[in-house]
Amino acid sequence: MSTTASKPVIVVGSGLAGLSAAHEALREGALVRLLDRAPKPGGNSIKASSGINGAGTRFQRALNIPTDDSFYADTVRSAGSRFTENNPPGIDRGSLVEILTSHSENAVNWLADELNVDLSVVAQLGGHSVPRTHRGGGDLPPGAAIVSALLNKMKANPNFTLENSAEVDKLLVENSGAVKGVSYRTSDGQMHELEGPVVFAAGGFAGDVHGLLAKYRPDLAGMPSTNEERPASHGLLSTIGAALVDMDSVQIHPTGFVLPKGAGTSYNIVPLKKEDASHKPADPKSVSTSQLFLAAEALRGEGGILLSGSGERFVNELNTRDVVSSAIMALPQSTDKSMRHWEVILLLDPGACEAAASHIKFYLWKGLVQKVKVRDLAPEIIASIDKYATTVSEHGEDPLGRKSFGHWKLPPGDANREEEVCVGTVTPVVHFTMGGVAFDAKARVLRSTDGGKLTPIPGIWAAGEITGGIHGANRLGGSSLLECAVFGRIAGTEAARSLIVTP
Ligand SMILES: Cc1cc2nc3c(=O)[nH]c(=O)nc-3n(C[C@H](O)[C@H](O)[C@H](O)COP(=O)(O)OP(=O)(O)OC[C@H]3O[C@@H](n4cnc5c(N)ncnc54)[C@H](O)[C@@H]3O)c2cc1C
Ligand SMILES: *[C@@H]1O[C@H](CO)[C@@H](O)[C@H](O)[C@H]1NC(C)=O
Repeated sequence: MSTTASKPVIVVGSGLAGLSAAHEALREGALVRLLDRAPKPGGNSIKASSGINGAGTRFQRALNIPTDDSFYADTVRSAGSRFTENNPPGIDRGSLVEILTSHSENAVNWLADELNVDLSVVAQLGGHSVPRTHRGGGDLPPGAAIVSALLNKMKANPNFTLENSAEVDKLLVENSGAVKGVSYRTSDGQMHELEGPVVFAAGGFAGDVHGLLAKYRPDLAGMPSTNEERPASHGLLSTIGAALVDMDSVQIHPTGFVLPKGAGTSYNIVPLKKEDASHKPADPKSVSTSQLFLAAEALRGEGGILLSGSGERFVNELNTRDVVSSAIMALPQSTDKSMRHWEVILLLDPGACEAAASHIKFYLWKGLVQKVKVRDLAPEIIASIDKYATTVSEHGEDPLGRKSFGHWKLPPGDANREEEVCVGTVTPVVHFTMGGVAFDAKARVLRSTDGGKLTPIPGIWAAGEITGGIHGANRLGGSSLLECAVFGRIAGTEAARSLIVTP
């Protein structure tokens, strides 16, 4: 068994999907050329802040969760009716979810054991039946921790080459239709051609606000995004016939931080009276999209609550992202027309602030979160806190159906007035694109044939947010880093093995 020495595995995109593919291709003994058009590696992956899902991990067991058999069912439930849609015909969504969930423990172990990433803290995010989203206990957010661990390890491998500011602009295709390499442009304007099997890991299109996002979801124009503004690369795959799936399934994250207008804004809010809400919503076309910091879902998972402009809870904060986002978007929009957004209060009691300390530290530093004594809050907010604290302390039934209260420990009534809570203002933001290119359990990119079947395009694999079909209508928090690791590794292994010449 030997590999054709000259040809490398070509990986497009240095987010977690691309890095995972590169890592496994190297393990298979291949040379790897990783190309990214950005000046620095890491893509959106480096920004991930809540963590990565794993079911059945030893970190869950340490938290007294001995087994976790519900990850597949949770994922299917969150995907909604899209899960049973046979579009494009022949797509096998079940096998993708099966691979994702059944490889999740292994993915977490890989990162924890082989790459020494701390993933010992496990939180319960919306839509999950049990805590299964893993992150570290220190200050480094999980995306940055994982990306830097992989990069540091691979940089020491002489078979690995990372080239930044290298934009792939075309896939090279043989007469047979098989992909044989890429052409790319470097920052000096030079064009280059490179031959080898290709792993395409170029990320989603939640940052392509004037391009693919506007094309598939014109109704979302003018909303802020958590993604950096950048054009999508899906077109390179469509050009070679790749099928697209679920392109109009776009995830709105319920909580992006809005910088309160004017420094030192107090949460001694003037409640918005229903009859005052006569302001017109901002015109989607007249406002520009801006990038906002995400208020990590873990903030709610650890115990945070959401309050409307009139200081009331209005939704089970641990429901799935689509449900929480819709509930917020049913409230009156912000009167600030500079951008199309809402203003909802995210409030963490001292127990939740403490449990989310590594996040909170950063947000406090950025001025996105403030620490405020309960007694200094608006009376409507204090009343909501007392009501909720009563439910928690009495293990009562939450009228909104919240079942897990995280680390909330604030008591109701006078006993809480001198305590400090963490508060910020949040709005729904465009966050993640569930849709993308159709692919299969071996991470092969698929095209529709005339017979109405999906068949793999030889020579190309894909992984990460560029792919579609796993998450259906709604992705569970923590499942994106997971799909990058699971399918990235499969793609890298398969691409490397395609180089093996069998005598
Ligand atoms: C703020 C934030 C927080 C998040 N938190 C979480 C979380 O806690 N848990 C979770 O599971 N998910 C989270 N997500 C989602 C998750 O981070 C992304 O979906 C995931 O990282 C996508 O990884 P990727 O490797 O597919 O793409 P990316 O990490 O986006 O990488 C794609 C790379 O491809 C490059 N590229 C694109 N086109 C080309 C081209 N033509 N030529 C060369 N290079 C190209 C880009 O420059 C980029 O570097 C979060 C996302 C954001 C924005
Ligand atoms: C680099 O690749 C060669 C050829 O496949 C292989 O023999 C060698 O072990 C690889 N080196 C590392 C550090 O992986």
